[in-house]
Amino acid sequence: MSFPWAKHYAPTNPVTRFLDEKLPLPRLVYNAVGAGYPVPRNLNYMWNFGVLAGFCLVLQIVTGVILAMHYAPNALVAFASTEHIMRDVNWGWMLRYMHANGASFFFLVIYLHIFRGFFYSSYKAPREMIWLLGVVIFLLMMATGFMGYVLPWGQMSFWGAKVITGLFGAIPLVGEPIQIWLLGGYAPDNAALNRFFSLHFLLPFVIAGVVILHIWALHIPGSSNPTGVEIKSESDTVPFHPYYTAKDGFGLGVFLILFSIMVFFLPNFLGHPDNYIEANPLSTPAHIVPEWYFWPFYAILRAFTVDFILPAKLWGVLAMFAAILIWFLLPWLDKGPVRSGHYRPTFRKFFWFGLIPTMAVLFYCGGAPAEEPYVMLSQIATAYYFLHFLVILPLLSRAERTEPLPRSITDAVLHSDKTPVLGENAEPAV
Ligand code: HEM
Repeated sequence: MSFPWAKHYAPTNPVTRFLDEKLPLPRLVYNAVGAGYPVPRNLNYMWNFGVLAGFCLVLQIVTGVILAMHYAPNALVAFASTEHIMRDVNWGWMLRYMHANGASFFFLVIYLHIFRGFFYSSYKAPREMIWLLGVVIFLLMMATGFMGYVLPWGQMSFWGAKVITGLFGAIPLVGEPIQIWLLGGYAPDNAALNRFFSLHFLLPFVIAGVVILHIWALHIPGSSNPTGVEIKSESDTVPFHPYYTAKDGFGLGVFLILFSIMVFFLPNFLGHPDNYIEANPLSTPAHIVPEWYFWPFYAILRAFTVDFILPAKLWGVLAMFAAILIWFLLPWLDKGPVRSGHYRPTFRKFFWFGLIPTMAVLFYCGGAPAEEPYVMLSQIATAYYFLHFLVILPLLSRAERTEPLPRSITDAVLHSDKTPVLGENAEPAV
């Protein structure tokens, strides 16, 4: 969205003038993330996570490309080459720990970014396309994360790959041929490792391409904000630079402190000890668990234990994919006119006391062994998860009694819509 009050780029010296004429990149940056981009003045810290996600993507690509210079995607030496990176390559241990923990931080940031979207209904018109592209990014991230975990060729790498590719075997008739085709054999081996490495290298660049579309789509309506009320006048906005470059810079500082603590003091905290044992097709680990960021969907997969028309395993696979794919429908499932959860009292209750505990249970159960009471808890949480998105949200968007919205962002910030009466709690003018 271009606002009439947006500042205009005016190159001042011959070099920037030359560039502006031939390849106006500085103008693009100025209008996209500089002083030429007016942004709502009331964005809170939940709006930091988009930029942090962009930082994580760059971090993963840079560390990943260097790791790839030393890693050998061959089942005979992959495990040894990972140890070689850890022991012999200068700073190799740091690169690997940054990449492995970087993946976890990337997912953490993205989960916060997505849940910000759920609370403030950022998916609602006119921002549907931003959201849809976001879901595509999330799916690509999951594929990338899964294939990356296979590369060190430890026990969890091997058995994780076996379980996940085995899921395709649940599809009737074509399942087994698909599974063999995906792996290039009957079990994960050299062919699978090679193609996973190739795709794990490629996909982050595909993600980067979709992120460009995501940001492009964002610049059409502009950012939403915690009130969900659209920009009405110049006083509702501030220029992105220096206000949000400073705020995002602060967020990045906090992020880097937490990230450094993990990389330097707790580098294996989020990893699994079994992945320091080389892959052995003849020895199945006691519990096969994926990385923590897959846990909610892994819990949904394992929640189906009874064959009913279709085999239980197929129900699990369908539900696991559906759990993410229904996000594509959100803009049409929740069409109510009020966006922000701040003005939706019933929605807010279902969010904090329904969706958030459900996700917590799914996260916990996905990492726990497939036994009671975790299976039953996963079943209850899975049922609520689908109920929330498919029934509660559509009903609320029709029937909920929302609270009055502020007249504008400025009114909400200055509370001028609720100007206190003098003598009540306002300071007398001096
Ligand atoms: C590599 C991954 C991603 C990057 C780099 C990224 C980047 C960004 C940035 C920079 C913004 C603007 C600042 C902000 O609102 O935080 C944004 C907004 C947004 N993103 Fe993402 N994003 C990513 C993934 C996702 C995913 C997975 C989703 C949802 C499934 C999503 C949904 C949205 C939405 C709806 C907005 C608009 C929010 C609003 O204005 O209220 N994004 N994204």
